[in-house]
Amino acid sequence: MDYQLLYDVKNTVVAVLYLVSAIFFIVGIKRLAKPKTAPSGNFIGALGMLLAFLTAFVDFGVIVDVDQEAIVSRFQYWYILVAAIGLGSVVGVWSALGVKMTGMPQMVAIFNGFGGGASLLVAGVFYQFELFTEGANALLLPMLIATVLSGLIGAITFSGSFIAYGKLQGIKLVPDKPVTYTGDLVVKGVLFALLVALGVMMVINPDHLLLYWLIVFGGLLLGILLVIGIGGADMPVVISLLNSYSGLAAAATGFVLNNVVLIIAGSLVGASGLILTMIMCKAMNRSLVNVLFGGFGGSDTVGSSDDIYEGKVTSTSADEVAMILDTAQRVVIVPGYGMAVARAATPVRLLTEALEKRGVEVVFGIHPVAGRMPGHMNVLLAEESIPYEKLLDLDTVNPTFPQTDVVIVLGANDVVNPLAREPKSAIAGMPILDVDKARTCVVIKRSLSPGFAGIANPLFANDNTLMLFGDGKAAMDDLIKAYKEV
Ligand code: TAP
Repeated sequence: MDYQLLYDVKNTVVAVLYLVSAIFFIVGIKRLAKPKTAPSGNFIGALGMLLAFLTAFVDFGVIVDVDQEAIVSRFQYWYILVAAIGLGSVVGVWSALGVKMTGMPQMVAIFNGFGGGASLLVAGVFYQFELFTEGANALLLPMLIATVLSGLIGAITFSGSFIAYGKLQGIKLVPDKPVTYTGDLVVKGVLFALLVALGVMMVINPDHLLLYWLIVFGGLLLGILLVIGIGGADMPVVISLLNSYSGLAAAATGFVLNNVVLIIAGSLVGASGLILTMIMCKAMNRSLVNVLFGGFGGSDTVGSSDDIYEGKVTSTSADEVAMILDTAQRVVIVPGYGMAVARAATPVRLLTEALEKRGVEVVFGIHPVAGRMPGHMNVLLAEESIPYEKLLDLDTVNPTFPQTDVVIVLGANDVVNPLAREPKSAIAGMPILDVDKARTCVVIKRSLSPGFAGIANPLFANDNTLMLFGDGKAAMDDLIKAYKEV
């Protein structure tokens, strides 16, 4: 057998398959950009991942030894099949099937964390393996720099993601409000500088293995300090940023292993996570620096809820709302987190159909951060087969509110809070849906409790606002029944 030829063929096939999986990733991400093509985009991405995994299996596991004229295996295949593919698939399928739509951000946070953790472990173990087998002098500068970056970014992603998970999941040990203290910026800055210094030391003295694990330990601490200081409505931005970090850590590990597909996939995750972060920052009118170091999500300085609501809130009934709807020409439905919790998307569709049957124009006002994850409302309404053209974004729907007879705000709060127009409020500058400009605004929620940002909402006390108190689904069911009877 010509082992040189075999060696060349194996390397070429592996390179081509890596390229094919990278193409799958790019096509998958492209298709994820539109709701219609998103399911197939997801599938294509998963196929790319499977192909990349199997290719890596051959790449690293099957070695053609030209000198010894032999094909050798480096792996304990049994462990990989059972631990990586078997156990990994079981945990992945189990968590994906079990997660509620409202728990999706937490799940993304955990997956980001594991991504960062895997990157730092793979890079660290590879560095250790090369150090022991080849010696410190054989380690190249780019590989060492990539190892430091993977260890640092991976560790920040790992611990930061778990803190983010704890905050969103309401785990008691992790305070959900931002934890700030005097000099916290200095502490984080000094720790970061120290870690950079350790990184430089490791690159200069690669035989000091301990330095790598010190960087990892410091990175874990920095991840906790960075995320513990953030809270409230900024959490989705942080999760998206950590997603971007997990991609960067993977790309750095790709450089350590000299693995093209890991570099490409990591860069794609890094870039797309950053783009999503910037889109969300824009949707909240915050700068990234402000999100990371501003400690937003705590208290508000604009009025207490007693001042805002006392004696000014008008509650209504399903019958009264049905009568108002009976005279309406145009209705805008604004869904929020409460629609998801109440599982009220089906009655939303039923009411839409009933209104349209009587010639009423119905559209939906979708805020980019309504709910608890990007596209949350779009997904729930798409599941009800509500046409995408009816889902209008902020810029499209806002100018139409003055010509709208009735707005039904279903379980939304922060995204319709006019306090965002007040410079001193906690959500100052966040773009909102201008529902208060419609002729009548009906708000369906259980109480006057605040939304995610934890602040009162003067919309509920407006003259043209009617509060229909109750669970989202029950209230919508009553409303449909009452409307059909008018
Ligand atoms: P929120 O401001 O969180 O308000 C949701 C409202 O739903 C609450 O005030 C609650 O009032 C009501 N609700 C809860 N359960 C209900 C039920 N069963 N029936 C009826 N109403 C119910 O929601 P939003 O307006 O969608 O804004 C989203 C917020 O979450 C923003 O601050 C955003 O920044 C943040 N956030 C967004 C994301 C993404 S990316 N979308 C991720 C995480 C956080 P009651 O308790 O009185 O019923």
